[in-house]
Amino acid sequence: MTGRAALAEHTTIASFRAALDEVRAAGRTVGLVPTMGFLHEGHASLFRRAAAECDVAAATVFVNPLQFGPSEDFESYPRDLDRDRGIARDAGIVQLFTPPSTEMFPDGAPAATRVSVAGVGDGLEAASRPGHFDGVATVVAKLFAIAGPCRAYFGEKDYQQLAVIRRVTRDLSLPVDIVACPTVREPDGLALSSRNTYLSASERAAATVLVRALETGQTAIEHEAVRDAEKVRLLMAAVIDAEPVADLDYAEVVDPASLTPLTTIAGPVRLVVAARLGPARLIDNMGAMG
Ligand code: PAJ
Repeated sequence: MTGRAALAEHTTIASFRAALDEVRAAGRTVGLVPTMGFLHEGHASLFRRAAAECDVAAATVFVNPLQFGPSEDFESYPRDLDRDRGIARDAGIVQLFTPPSTEMFPDGAPAATRVSVAGVGDGLEAASRPGHFDGVATVVAKLFAIAGPCRAYFGEKDYQQLAVIRRVTRDLSLPVDIVACPTVREPDGLALSSRNTYLSASERAAATVLVRALETGQTAIEHEAVRDAEKVRLLMAAVIDAEPVADLDYAEVVDPASLTPLTTIAGPVRLVVAARLGPARLIDNMGAMG
């Protein structure tokens, strides 16, 4: 026994909504952690934070078809709901929403209503994954509408996603406070991701190239006083290009709030990289102070 409270699982919108309404009616606060499941220590860190900061911690597990492109891995995305239940409960989740696709989208994936975020939702990931953030923004707005007033926890691992979700929440006046949580990494620096499961042993060894590229950029800015963003970009790209298993998608130096690429570094920046390693497309990011 873990000594944890029992986990209540909901597969309908009405039941999950009613459970969280009841929490608030009793004057207690709700912490919400949306996920696509195949949970790992990165997700668990969000669960523990929600449980520590809110009276009741809730999580959702839903592999959202709207955010996968036609040639992406929706069908093969890893799923293990039995294991997810144990991880969620052990990390303090007491309300779990695991809707079937027919509950979220009874008419099939919606073609009519889409939430689209310009600005922070353009470029970087969006350039390689057209429509991805519309899918994220649409499902997150829907999950917020279902869950009601709460604090919602998201990982900095998906830095652009976090910016998109902040923007949707503000622009639509959704009654949710967004909380950003630091990236959880393997001992060798690789950011935890459900997609790491796609990596072969040699790809897994090479996958540290993302964090190594970011550290190279950070060192250039913070210890070598490089202020030319293009130089930092080239340094990061060179680290990834030197790894034969990795195929660079982008290496950028961006404004941490607007996510626009910079030319000159003066103050805090965000370093963002994406690369393909065999079947997996991996992303990572890190802050640096110019
Ligand atoms: P998923 O990839 O399952 O991630 C769920 C949450 O866990 C996100 O906020 C993500 O940033 C966070 N996360 C993932 N890896 C992490 C790590 N290594 N350290 C810290 N946090 C980490 O992101 C999604 O699902 C979906 O797009 C979703 C928001 C649920 C909408 O479908």
